[in-house]
Amino acid sequence: MKISVIGLGYLGATHAVAMAKLGHSIIGIDKDQAKVESLKNGQIPFFEPGLSEALKEVIKEGKVQFQASYDENSASADLHFLCVGTPQSPDGSANTSYLYAAIEDLAPYLSNTAVVVGKSTVPVGTAQSLKEKLQQLTGFEPRLIWNPEFLREGTALEDSLRPDRIVIGYWHKEDSFPLLVAYEKLIQAGSPVVELDVPTAELVKVAANAFLATKVSFINAMAEVAEVVGADAVALSKAIGYDERIGNKFLRSGIGFGGGCLPKDIRGFIARAEELGVGQALSFLKEIDGINERRRTRVVQLAKQELGNLTGKKITVLGISFKPNSDDLRESPALEIARSLANAGAAVTVTDPKALHGLTDSNLTAVSDALEALSNAELVILGTEWEEFRSLDPAAAKTKVSKATIIDGRNVLDVSAWQKAGWKVIALGRTIQND
Ligand code: UGA
Repeated sequence: MKISVIGLGYLGATHAVAMAKLGHSIIGIDKDQAKVESLKNGQIPFFEPGLSEALKEVIKEGKVQFQASYDENSASADLHFLCVGTPQSPDGSANTSYLYAAIEDLAPYLSNTAVVVGKSTVPVGTAQSLKEKLQQLTGFEPRLIWNPEFLREGTALEDSLRPDRIVIGYWHKEDSFPLLVAYEKLIQAGSPVVELDVPTAELVKVAANAFLATKVSFINAMAEVAEVVGADAVALSKAIGYDERIGNKFLRSGIGFGGGCLPKDIRGFIARAEELGVGQALSFLKEIDGINERRRTRVVQLAKQELGNLTGKKITVLGISFKPNSDDLRESPALEIARSLANAGAAVTVTDPKALHGLTDSNLTAVSDALEALSNAELVILGTEWEEFRSLDPAAAKTKVSKATIIDGRNVLDVSAWQKAGWKVIALGRTIQND
């Protein structure tokens, strides 16, 4: 099938490559000429395992082309995927202006047989208003359906090619048929299709992210309690996770959730519920956000407990991306902690296998080699659980630092191995005995 993918950020670039890998002919469109050029050259503008290789492959096969604007060629696509971003506005709501701009650009080229597929994460009700706008611009009833995306950074391509569900919201069932054809291989491989109305499809995405955020903050709230009674939130998580109704996934306590999705999506969801007059229904999400923020403050508090006044104290933060296998710094808990420590006067060194190129803070010292970054540190904080940090040799690490104390912000270190090598280990949600 001939498919256009509008917006080539995280979602769009991954989706374009995934659709091309399924054998379709893809036209990727983004107003950012630099991004278009980079993609044309097989360069993904962010780090995502396997994506650059897959892009080069589909370029070689002639399955994908990139351009900065619509033309007659893209106009003849059977499907147009809307993949533009919906960033957070200053008031917390989701900014949908890029979606409206995209359909204004698309409208002159849209035929009444092509189907427009919304994939961006939106406040419920957005699709209806986009549909009305498109109708106004084209003069016919557009075939618009909603198909939210659930990919995770770090496993984006894999998630796109093996989605755990395909959610399709439509007003007219027949509008979903071309999408079912496009996804035929995924469906044959076993991904279940969930068909529903459009507002529910919009809600599925924000509800899923709100639930995931709630799980993380739930275990982090337990960690707060565990810390004052000498209990262990990691053991607690394991114990409650055996109950299949609870499950053990997404229950890792630590410095909390970040990234371009979970924090923004819960705030956008709260704002939308308030607009709709049902703000009270989601007021608990403010607490979810609050618990998440408090974990970051807790690390700064622990640093002060260890070092006293932070002025001039040498602290090394291992990892600045919001999660491993990603170079995304948006709302990264590790980076926020590094910034707070630097603002409190500490001399902070940060290291990360992939994300240092995005660092703009002049008061943080970036060092790419992890062992080198530990030089003379009086406190080490593990902020992002990259494999490189999890497998650090504690004995080698100890030779670098001036004081062997580490705060495990992700609860991933082998505590006894680090202690044996002479480290004092502090962890969130746990009381660890150090001699
Ligand atoms: C999230 C969702 O998981 C995807 O399903 C969704 O498609 C995506 O947002 C989106 O809306 O586009 P992502 O932001 O890539 O994906 O990251 P997650 O794997 O969800 O992790 C989010 C944060 O939670 C990370 O900072 C991670 O370190 C933290 N986390 C996760 C924990 O602190 N504990 C856990 O147990 C799990």
